[in-house]
Amino acid sequence: MNPLLSVRNLGIEIHRGQMQKQQVVQDITFEVYEKEIFGVVGESGSGKTLTALSLLALLPPAAKITSGSIQFKNKDVLPYQEKVIRELRGKEISYIFQEPGRSFDPLHTIGSTMSETFRRIYPMEKQDLLTQKSIKILQDLHISHAERRLKNYPHQFSGGMLQRVMIALALIQNPQLIIADEPTTSLDVTIQAEVIRLLIELQKKRRKDLRKFRLLARYISQDPARSLDPRMTVEKILYSGIRYTSLWVNQKNAYQRAVRALELVELDSHMLSRYPVEFSGGQRQRIAIARALITEPEVLICDEIVSSLDMPIRKKILDLILRLKSLYHLSILFISHDLSTVSYVCDRIGVLYKGRLLEEARVKDLMQNPIHPYTQRLYRAIPKLEKNVFIQDLPPLQEVSDMPMREMAPEHFVAN
Ligand SMILES: Nc1ncnc2c1ncn2[C@@H]1O[C@H](COP(=O)(O)OP(=O)(O)OP(=O)(O)O)[C@@H](O)[C@H]1O
Ligand SMILES: [Mg+2]
Repeated sequence: MNPLLSVRNLGIEIHRGQMQKQQVVQDITFEVYEKEIFGVVGESGSGKTLTALSLLALLPPAAKITSGSIQFKNKDVLPYQEKVIRELRGKEISYIFQEPGRSFDPLHTIGSTMSETFRRIYPMEKQDLLTQKSIKILQDLHISHAERRLKNYPHQFSGGMLQRVMIALALIQNPQLIIADEPTTSLDVTIQAEVIRLLIELQKKRRKDLRKFRLLARYISQDPARSLDPRMTVEKILYSGIRYTSLWVNQKNAYQRAVRALELVELDSHMLSRYPVEFSGGQRQRIAIARALITEPEVLICDEIVSSLDMPIRKKILDLILRLKSLYHLSILFISHDLSTVSYVCDRIGVLYKGRLLEEARVKDLMQNPIHPYTQRLYRAIPKLEKNVFIQDLPPLQEVSDMPMREMAPEHFVAN
């Protein structure tokens, strides 16, 4: 069987300050097969989250992939990632604010703000030509009396006009990425459609493959409270997963998708109009899962998604994950510091310690016969589920470094 996701010899480095580097993930190799839940278990700081983020090119700026390959359906994704990351770091990222007023200086005319933007792109161009370009843009945006309008101050423009100008300014800078923070909420419906059309147009130019990969593989994080925007209703949160993608057909279709996604996580459709604060922790995590599911992913990356939940709710979410897996034929990379949680949902487990995989086996084999001393300690710690239990008596790093994995029993690999 071919793996859906294949990580080979992955290394990740963290830069702390100018001179200091630290290898936080070292030579990790694992596969996630179709319809499988692969668990990564390890204590805090062992590199679980960075490993997960690296798969989707979401690493923080301080972190860098130093070695290895990542394949999704036998296709290398790192070349795309490198390209995108380079561009994001090197180039400007345009940010479209929710309130258009914030991107305009009230003391400058619209014309001078626009000229300033053009000036950055055409530093040697005559002022006259920049003004002509600005006029052309206003005309394109169906703003009448364009020449006169250039002399207006921001407060003389309506919110919708300002927003259109703002988007045009973002577009002429030809950015690789536009971050749109609810750009359409303050606009009327026809302008909304226009703005979305502009954004989609631009989006077509983006790296399609990586986008597709990101959609196919969704990351659900540790902390549902923080990953859900408190200012958005559940409906909007769910839409945000698909809005600027090919999955967005129309509002009615999106609504049906949202209802279906809620059904899948056993929440009722009347909750669509509510805000994240109006839910319990367990329900919020369900919403985060629904937001991932609405994009019809093939791979889910679940990073400590039950750690913040009480035992009974934790079990319910884990059962939900198991049900979704069989319903949807999902492949899941399931990350947790807790061996009992991982063993409950996973088919196979990899044990991570200080950025290295120490043992990998089917759940049953690992639980019946934990071989590495570190895994044995994790195993013994299970009955006492309190935090910090795992941290005691760990083998020093020297003992585990640079030891290749060996197959000690069928499909049971141990660093040795
Ligand atoms: N943005 C960052 N800047 C600097 N160092 C970081 C950053 N993110 C992670 N690290 C470091 O990288 C190492 C691995 O971190 P990672 O977040 O992957 O651990 P983890 O296994 O997910 O831990 P936890 O269980 O606490 O979530 C840690 O030493 C951490 O301090
Ligand atoms: Mg983490």
